[in-house]
Amino acid sequence: MGFLQSWTASVCTHLLWFLTVTNPSTTLTSTLGQGELLECLRTKNITTVSPGSPGFSQDSLNFNRRLPYTPAAIVFPESAQQVSTAILCAAGAGIHVAARSGGHNYGAFSLGGKNGSLVVDLANMNKTAVHADGTASFQTGNRLGDVALTLFNKGGRAMAHGTCPHVGSGGHAGCGGFGFASRMWGLLIDQVEAAEVVLANGSIVQASAFTNSDLFWAIRGASPSFGIVTEYTTRTHAAPSENTIFTYTYLALPSMATKIFLEFQNFSASSAPPELGLQVSVRPYWQRGVVNMNITGVYYGRISQFHEVFRPLLSSISSMGINPYYEDITTYAWVPSLIQLSEVGTLDTSSPILKNSHDTFFAKSLMVYDDSLLNEKAIQSFFDYVGLLGDHPQVSWFVLVDLFGGNGSAIRAMANTATAYSQRKGLYNFQMYASSPNHEPPFPAEGLPFVNEMFGSITRNMPSNWSFGAFACYTDPTLEPQQWQSRYYGENLPKLITLRSLYDNKTLFNYPQAIPNSRLNSEINSDMYSFIPTVQRFLNV
Ligand SMILES: Cc1cc2nc3c(=O)[nH]c(=O)nc-3n(C[C@H](O)[C@H](O)[C@H](O)COP(=O)(O)OP(=O)(O)OC[C@H]3O[C@@H](n4cnc5c(N)ncnc54)[C@H](O)[C@@H]3O)c2cc1C
Ligand SMILES: *[C@@H]1O[C@H](CO)[C@@H](O)[C@H](O)[C@H]1NC(C)=O
Ligand SMILES: *[C@@H]1O[C@H](CO)[C@@H](O)[C@H](O)[C@H]1NC(C)=O
Ligand SMILES: *[C@@H]1O[C@H](CO)[C@@H](O)[C@H](O)[C@H]1NC(C)=O
Ligand SMILES: *[C@@H]1O[C@H](CO)[C@@H](O)[C@H](O)[C@H]1NC(C)=O
Ligand SMILES: *[C@@H]1O[C@H](CO)[C@@H](O)[C@H](O)[C@H]1NC(C)=O
Ligand SMILES: *[C@@H]1O[C@H](CO)[C@@H](O)[C@H](O)[C@H]1NC(C)=O
Ligand SMILES: *[C@@H]1O[C@H](CO)[C@@H](O)[C@H](O)[C@H]1NC(C)=O
Ligand SMILES: *[C@@H]1O[C@H](CO)[C@@H](O)[C@H](O)[C@H]1NC(C)=O
Ligand SMILES: *[C@@H]1O[C@H](CO)[C@@H](O)[C@H](O)[C@H]1NC(C)=O
Repeated sequence: MGFLQSWTASVCTHLLWFLTVTNPSTTLTSTLGQGELLECLRTKNITTVSPGSPGFSQDSLNFNRRLPYTPAAIVFPESAQQVSTAILCAAGAGIHVAARSGGHNYGAFSLGGKNGSLVVDLANMNKTAVHADGTASFQTGNRLGDVALTLFNKGGRAMAHGTCPHVGSGGHAGCGGFGFASRMWGLLIDQVEAAEVVLANGSIVQASAFTNSDLFWAIRGASPSFGIVTEYTTRTHAAPSENTIFTYTYLALPSMATKIFLEFQNFSASSAPPELGLQVSVRPYWQRGVVNMNITGVYYGRISQFHEVFRPLLSSISSMGINPYYEDITTYAWVPSLIQLSEVGTLDTSSPILKNSHDTFFAKSLMVYDDSLLNEKAIQSFFDYVGLLGDHPQVSWFVLVDLFGGNGSAIRAMANTATAYSQRKGLYNFQMYASSPNHEPPFPAEGLPFVNEMFGSITRNMPSNWSFGAFACYTDPTLEPQQWQSRYYGENLPKLITLRSLYDNKTLFNYPQAIPNSRLNSEINSDMYSFIPTVQRFLNV
């Protein structure tokens, strides 16, 4: 096509520059109730795009192009009041609703995870404020990069959250939100003190430890099933001035990689202080039979302290005669450290490299609990599998193993039942991720079995009664209900089901992995939304 093409490959973006974006078809699909919905939104003067209107195809694109869906309409409200109005329009028309903050959900759940939903895109709700008491407020149209920059620029403040600037704050907080600073400060959601939430019946309510405390509990780990959070108020922290980012690269035979991983597991469980963010990453290597692996992360302190803290792990690895092939240890100020970790050179989410970023992928997550660590056989089997993959022609892949728990971790310090997020026993989480080779559709048929096999290389070597979890932020839309319910929500599921029946009795917020309602599906289906008294009052105004 004569375009100059260049790759930007990082976990955050896989943009192929100057390649034209392919849009899904713009055919008009009609959904039952769609006409009624559009008429209501028009009457209420809410900015809306729908099939056939300019920009609709572009606005319907999700980060993960493996799963395209066509919404009934997309609205761009500018206030909680408009979110409420849009919700009631949808309820009146019998159409399901999904909020969209950054559109990064792996299963395209912010498009509803199916055709025909109303998408409430929060992009125009982007206010932020940092208060004198060190708390901050941000509306959920903000992306993580916007939040981080505002916090730092207004008083040198910081929070723990994920590394990719373009991920939406609304969805990220909704499933927990993990970053390198989380062992020190908690998940993004652990730093939240209050939220403004629009409920399925259109009510705009506050949720905190003091007001609607059961709703506050539920949104801290499962918000998409309970309402649309329009604003969060959070604690913040003084941004550390010295942030030491380290990378040790090992090229190792699978048996050696296994030994390194066992040392990582041991160190993680006992000696990693909370100021240490730690990750093992595994990526393809051209030579089959060789594992290409990094031990990387951030120490929130100076380089000399880092060396002291890290010595036990490094020396136990080097005492086996294994030395890094490459290493880099550099200290950064706060914002430069975030830019370095993002690997895209900017936190500015209006930059084209972030604005147009997307991928075509499938991922699985496996959370290893601190009382059920992996045995050597499972680890060896995993490295045997990935060591043989090499530079796979059909699938581009990576594996990230993030340390969540361990001695002193702020995530682990809270009770598992303190919030809806139920993975606090998680010591570390595997994310196994596979994309199409050029990151554009179509996703190769080999992709799903490829990741499932990798996952199985571990699970089939553990005892059949082995207990493990999954991180809901790394949504796996292929899981069966009993699998995602127990892996994401564990012991908190029964309470979530009860609260779901109270807050979204008629499953208005409906997507493939929404918390089930204790009412039977048949009951819900026969219960038309237009019979809700509030909706009727609203529609008659
Ligand atoms: C490139 C990339 C990097 C990532 N890095 C990390 C990481 O470092 N750490 C980590 O923990 N996770 C990470 N994730 C996962 C990420 O946290 C989740 O995908 C998250 O849900 C994305 O939030 P979003 O607002 O962009 O997504 P969306 O797709 O907009 O939303 C996700 C879900 O939340 C719902 N939702 C959105 N906004 C709201 C709201 N305001 N109120 C209620 N429900 C809402 C949506 O309906 C959907 O179900 C990453 C994902 C990607 C694609
Ligand atoms: C509709 O919204 C637009 C812009 O948001 C505003 O200028 C206009 O006055 C509104 N019209 C009505 C009837 O509210
Ligand atoms: C969703 O709609 C598109 C067209 O807009 C159609 O091609 C696709 O098959 C539909 N998907 C499902 C699951 O119905
Ligand atoms: C922020 O919201 C305003 C409207 O509230 C909108 O005009 C502006 O484009 C938004 N900014 C971004 C970066 O989306
Ligand atoms: C784990 O580390 C501790 C302290 O470094 C050491 O005493 C112990 O032998 C290690 N255990 C294993 C299984 O490597
Ligand atoms: C946990 O950390 C504390 C304080 O940092 C330390 O005293 C203790 O020995 C650690 N526990 C283990 C098992 O390493
Ligand atoms: C390890 O880190 C280096 C430097 O950041 C990077 O080039 C390489 O791709 C990484 N390898 C893995 C396996 O993550
Ligand atoms: C799993 O089974 C083994 C014996 O097969 C037993 O020793 C162990 O306690 C069991 N673990 C759990 C968590 O039930
Ligand atoms: C759900 O709604 C129905 C009908 O509006 C009502 O009869 C029922 O009591 C509600 N259930 C709960 C748990 O609130
Ligand atoms: C909306 O739902 C909430 C939670 O179930 C309830 O407390 C409130 O009274 C409802 N509001 C209206 C107007 O029905």
